[in-house]
Amino acid sequence: MEHELVITRRGHRTGLPITVAVHSTARGMAAGGCRLTHYPHWRDAVTDALRLSAAMTGKTTLAGLPLGGGKTVVALPAGHLPDRRALLLDVGDTIAFLGGRYATGPDVGTGPDDMAVIGERTEHVFCRPASAGGSGDSSEHTATGVIAALRAVCRQRFGSPDLAGRRFAILGLGRVGGHVLRLLAAERAHLVAADTEDRGALAARHGATWVSPRDCLAADVDVLIPAALGGLLTAASVPALRCAAIAGPANNQLDVPATADLLHERGILWAPDVVVSAGGLIHATAVELLHETPEQVAARLHGIGDTLATILQTAATTGVTPATVVDQLITQDQDRFAVRH
Ligand code: PHE
Repeated sequence: MEHELVITRRGHRTGLPITVAVHSTARGMAAGGCRLTHYPHWRDAVTDALRLSAAMTGKTTLAGLPLGGGKTVVALPAGHLPDRRALLLDVGDTIAFLGGRYATGPDVGTGPDDMAVIGERTEHVFCRPASAGGSGDSSEHTATGVIAALRAVCRQRFGSPDLAGRRFAILGLGRVGGHVLRLLAAERAHLVAADTEDRGALAARHGATWVSPRDCLAADVDVLIPAALGGLLTAASVPALRCAAIAGPANNQLDVPATADLLHERGILWAPDVVVSAGGLIHATAVELLHETPEQVAARLHGIGDTLATILQTAATTGVTPATVVDQLITQDQDRFAVRH
């Protein structure tokens, strides 16, 4: 087993199974958001927690944060939803039970107000609203990191970091995707966007062409930006892609690691999501844990672009995929800490 600790506990208020996976605390307390979403079975939520928590270790490592990787996942039942407050208190109890090995934050299906409720049961929670003592919504900062990453990708792939006039397809206009849309529109980029929910009006407001998720994935653009759920890049979807590069905030974009090789073979530059998506976590950690100034925090978010540029450059000069470079960096880092223990 690769993970340090995985627990699934039945919440005593809701009766729902709550899973927390702690992948690694080698760098420090494990951190990772709380995901509330639908799965065919709660065991699928456990599987997802395993993958997502491992990705968080990669994220904290590449961001140079003194944190490990973890994740909370709850499979929401089909049909009748549980009382939300009761569920969040159940989540808070489960995190408290871990005694500081893990701290949570927002993720798919949760936001700052939810963190405030979890915070009634445990202090190990990031991104409560400012009024509740936290750093608030992290999605805007995730988007800032995505923009820094897009500049690095454009410099590597097209020879210029300029976003103006470039063509982007944003797949997912949720909280992070919506901010990315707004920021790219302000840069005068050409935009295509999609979502499974009806967010066409939002797209139109920013001059983006609204298409179906399927057409968005296969759009003829410079960069595809996955900003919804993971697992969209597969042996089945890669042949249909018409983008030159892919960089976005969705976690676990590849269904399996080998898909990175398929993208490479097609000449599509894939920026590893653990680097691109780190802005929210970086902001929350820098503010709440490291108590940094706004200038220091901004420099860290900007640093996502520098980190990615180095990775892409290393991959290009050594002839391997960026995914391989990232895997090597993470493995070396974990080994370094393992020796010290
Ligand atoms: N959802 C965030 C991520 O995947 C997790 C997070 C954000 C955790 C902010 C803590 C603070 O990176």
